[in-house]
Amino acid sequence: MDNITNTTNSRKDFLKITALTGAATLLNACNFFDKKENQSPKSEARLNKPIVLSTWNFGLAANDAAWKILTNGGRALDAVEAGVMVPEGDPTERSVGYGGRPDRDGRITLDACIMDELSNIGSVACLEYIKHPIQVARAVMEKSPHVMIVGDGALQFALEQGFKKENLMVPDSEKEYKEWLVKSEYKPIANIENHDTIGMIALDAAGNLSGACTTSGMAFKMHGRVGDSPIIGAGLYVDNEIGAATATGHGEEVIRIAGCHLVVELMRQGRNPEEACKEAVMRVVKLMEIRKKDLKDIQVGFIALNKQGEYGSYCVQDGFTYAVYDENGNNLHTPNSHIVLKKEAKPKLDTLKK
Ligand code: GLY
Repeated sequence: MDNITNTTNSRKDFLKITALTGAATLLNACNFFDKKENQSPKSEARLNKPIVLSTWNFGLAANDAAWKILTNGGRALDAVEAGVMVPEGDPTERSVGYGGRPDRDGRITLDACIMDELSNIGSVACLEYIKHPIQVARAVMEKSPHVMIVGDGALQFALEQGFKKENLMVPDSEKEYKEWLVKSEYKPIANIENHDTIGMIALDAAGNLSGACTTSGMAFKMHGRVGDSPIIGAGLYVDNEIGAATATGHGEEVIRIAGCHLVVELMRQGRNPEEACKEAVMRVVKLMEIRKKDLKDIQVGFIALNKQGEYGSYCVQDGFTYAVYDENGNNLHTPNSHIVLKKEAKPKLDTLKK
């Protein structure tokens, strides 16, 4: 009998606790979102001091476009989209959008993703014939019930949304491709100085974060190969309470550690942006060592920005740059790196290995 009473009481207590916990959770959830649908989580953001960061030297021109929006009180989401569209539309940039290098079948396939302060996300992978894949990624986010559309489906979706089908091959890319075909050696190279993914993260005057990432991927990759850039959590991650991060370099290594999600989580745990990027890079390094791979064959770089407007970066080997536009102007930075290559030992990064 006692046992039954005890069991009944324990069950009652359990139900009481569960009900109270449930109510508390519900209350917390209501406070967290302040009862208004689609309102950003509260946090102590830096206000009225926008900032934008992007990868590589071409980040300078991209930042200019983003800054115009940010400085007029625009939304970080609009700024990062407009920013990355600059290298996407530039036929002289060999690794992004129009003018990007083809895969080994001679097809230019593009990857992009975008994420806003409400954790809305959109992504396309292996998209052909569309000059601005970032706009298609945004359309996936805003006009489809999905978060990622790939290949023929992505093209079909883009055309349905009114995007124009264009030939993205420029004469210089075609020439490089024909030269590569002579040996057709399959050695995808990601560490191409100033010629890799553009990843951009921004904090707007309202204190909200967004990010965008876009690339044509590794030159002469296998058809259908997808890197980190269109994968939320790998090539890009934004948490409006904490910060944002984006990546460049060897996508396989970034995916392996869920890189940008890791960087943001490390910032959540108290690391500053550079410390978070460094810890993520060191995880790449460790996994390369465990797998007995040569670190010098790869490059990975992260850039990160926290909610207070502090930023930082770290990369596997030197040669990586990133651009920051804030109240001090638009400036190029060289992050610390795990490997500092001697000048003469530096691989000719902007030349594709034959
Ligand atoms: N980070 C670009 C790629 O690996 O495709």
